[in-house]
Amino acid sequence: MEGILFPRGVPEGLEGLDAYRARGGYQAVERLAGMSPEDVVAKVEASGLRGRGGAGFPTGRKLALTLECPETPRYVVMNGGEDEPGSKKDRVLMENVPHLILDGIILAAYAVQAEKAYLYINHGYEAATRAMETAIEEARQAGYCGADVAGSGFSLEIVMVPAPSNYVAGEDTAALEVIEGKEPLPRQKPPFPVTEGLFGKPSLVNNVETLANIAPIVNKGPESYRSFGTADSPGTMVFSLGDEMERPGVYELPLGTPLRHLVEECGGGLKSGKAIKAILPGGPSSGFLLPESLDLPLDHNSLREAGSSIGCGVVKVLTEDDSVVDEVVRIADFFARESCGQCPACRMETNMLVALLKKVQAGEGNDALVEQFGKVIAFNKGKGFCSLINMPGPPIESAVRLFPEEFRGA
Ligand SMILES: Cc1cc2nc3c(=O)[nH]c(=O)nc-3n(C[C@H](O)[C@H](O)[C@H](O)COP(=O)(O)O)c2cc1C
Repeated sequence: MEGILFPRGVPEGLEGLDAYRARGGYQAVERLAGMSPEDVVAKVEASGLRGRGGAGFPTGRKLALTLECPETPRYVVMNGGEDEPGSKKDRVLMENVPHLILDGIILAAYAVQAEKAYLYINHGYEAATRAMETAIEEARQAGYCGADVAGSGFSLEIVMVPAPSNYVAGEDTAALEVIEGKEPLPRQKPPFPVTEGLFGKPSLVNNVETLANIAPIVNKGPESYRSFGTADSPGTMVFSLGDEMERPGVYELPLGTPLRHLVEECGGGLKSGKAIKAILPGGPSSGFLLPESLDLPLDHNSLREAGSSIGCGVVKVLTEDDSVVDEVVRIADFFARESCGQCPACRMETNMLVALLKKVQAGEGNDALVEQFGKVIAFNKGKGFCSLINMPGPPIESAVRLFPEEFRGA
């Protein structure tokens, strides 16, 4: 199937400048002088692109809000922190199609009239960092970034910043703190980065994959982009499958593709050949689905209606022999460990959930204990600076709802 980001499928190997130009890359950047920032914003808004970093926020709206803010200078931040367990798509994108990402960053920077773009990349990603560095140098020599981009009068400096390898460091305002030379601690919001971001100035923070979608939209037009995906979730998405699958890896599929296609056709089913017990379709903060849901389309609306979410496309499949309780203990442990600890409610909630789940794991589950999960989760909802506090809720509550027998006594 033809993709938008990986035209020849993944992995395709590092795509250099000439190969990227040959597939229509940097066309809009070469014509930058003939386009207004508002033209770029309008195209991204018309495309319906939604952020691929997990929350699915409309990208065009983010661009418009940043451009509307009168304060200057403005900044663009590419979020390549990628520390969600199982996620590898941003690394694969940076290693394989760095010019596609850079093209999007330059167009996004022009759209919000930013003078500087920061590439915030997981510090363990050596090959990805090298690929982006080389692409920046090639693009600079071609006149696509640096001073007076393609004779347009617009200038853009691009800087690389290593991201610490902890989960919260990928939260957008924690990333801004790191770029400012501080600890990776999320900020209270509002204000949001679009009005008060890096150094207190309007900043566009977008995920790597989100930015990789901008050039195809601007170069080929929003209608062409919308020929992929659904009305509510246009385009394609890069999904990550784990080692439990016959063919683990990264797959680009049009949004709205049935989950079954990803699991069976792309992933080849479970490596063990066992039956599927449950699926987490959007990473550790999504709700579990039963195998009956395999025909659900992978898009924001369909997964939300089914009590789950698409997150950043990490799909985990549990076998009939796996314990759902063990899996949610692992998930809750992860969030408790990764909570930065600055919000007392988050510290308290994540640790309490682990303690309760460990009792269930020890065979001490009962109705009163199970009721505690919902209470703890509801009480703490939204009480942190970032959404980590809300993350353990969906997997735990869906597990309790779908597998009640696993939670009540040994
Ligand atoms: C704890 C936590 C970790 C996050 N980690 C990442 C990350 O590694 N990469 C990312 O793009 N977004 C991450 N996000 C989401 C960002 O805060 C932000 O929503 C995203 O970068 C916006 O980009 P988008 O609109 O293109 O999706 C994280 C959020 C939270 C709460």
